[in-house]
Amino acid sequence: MKKLFVMILTIAMLGTFAACGNNDTPTNPNTEYIYNVGLLQLVEHPSLDEIRNAIESEIDSAGYGDIINIDFVSGQNDTSTMNTIAQKFVANEDDAIIAIATPAAQSVAAATSEIPIIFSAITDPVAAELVSNLDAPDGNVTGVSDYIDVAAIFNLANELTPEVKSYGFIYNMGEVNSVSVIEDAKAYLDAQGIPYTEAFVTNIGEVTTAAQSLVGKVDAFFLPIDNTVASAMSNVADIAIKNNIPVYVAADSMVHDGGLATAGVNYTQLGKQTAQMLIRILINGEAIADNPVEVLTEYSVTVNEETAAALGVDVSAYTAE
Ligand code: TRP
Repeated sequence: MKKLFVMILTIAMLGTFAACGNNDTPTNPNTEYIYNVGLLQLVEHPSLDEIRNAIESEIDSAGYGDIINIDFVSGQNDTSTMNTIAQKFVANEDDAIIAIATPAAQSVAAATSEIPIIFSAITDPVAAELVSNLDAPDGNVTGVSDYIDVAAIFNLANELTPEVKSYGFIYNMGEVNSVSVIEDAKAYLDAQGIPYTEAFVTNIGEVTTAAQSLVGKVDAFFLPIDNTVASAMSNVADIAIKNNIPVYVAADSMVHDGGLATAGVNYTQLGKQTAQMLIRILINGEAIADNPVEVLTEYSVTVNEETAAALGVDVSAYTAE
């Protein structure tokens, strides 16, 4: 059994608004009507599954399990499959659509400008061209973002492995969510004069080769919130541990799958906020424009004790007694 320990640390982020869990109880639900909500999830990897489960259980615990019918479909990590599913939701005249992960949200947004779309875990909704303004969505799309602060992760890395003098990145350039985080990481490391090397992947099958290509070239890996890499995370972890390389990641699921550490958002909380936003828009009839994009601002440090032991890294500051 992997032992994972989490410590909460709150980081005041950027001057944007703070998104708080909204627990407003909807008034006047129309109990005669069954709402159909299509849910498109890019692929089934642990973090996206956690988000979907949190959305569904929050709908149930808010008391809407019987009147909101969620039609979940996996996009199987394939754009044309996702476009077809999105068109099916539209043809079905769904009352709302939930999209988990950036490529899924892009497919549904391309399919309709009428049906309300609530996205979940979109790292950079503006760069993904889902909204033009986080504070004032002006179309049919809003949702919850898992934007992260790379400085929090690199500060943690400096603390745990101060001897690291270079980083290797592995990511899919086709994922705008990864590109945004990598741009932030480059700016941060450039400012510190720390060199980095990039390894690119275009599909899950290429992740192992990409990880191997960095061995011997860099002291540590930094992996952004990349769906392709997350889907093959245990392969990266195996290679890294074998070669004594610490792996810093941008999402807790990638720590659970063998990465060393992250400072990131709580995806169960993110799923709950997505469900609350859906309920406000679908049941209470709130406008999209009145529901700014929510960005989680509380980060938790997650460390993998087994990985730390294998690498000889002291993570006791982040483990429970
Ligand atoms: N934020 C990612 C996106 O915009 C989706 C995501 C959520 C993710 N949790 C993750 C990706 C964990 C990798 C690992 O597409």
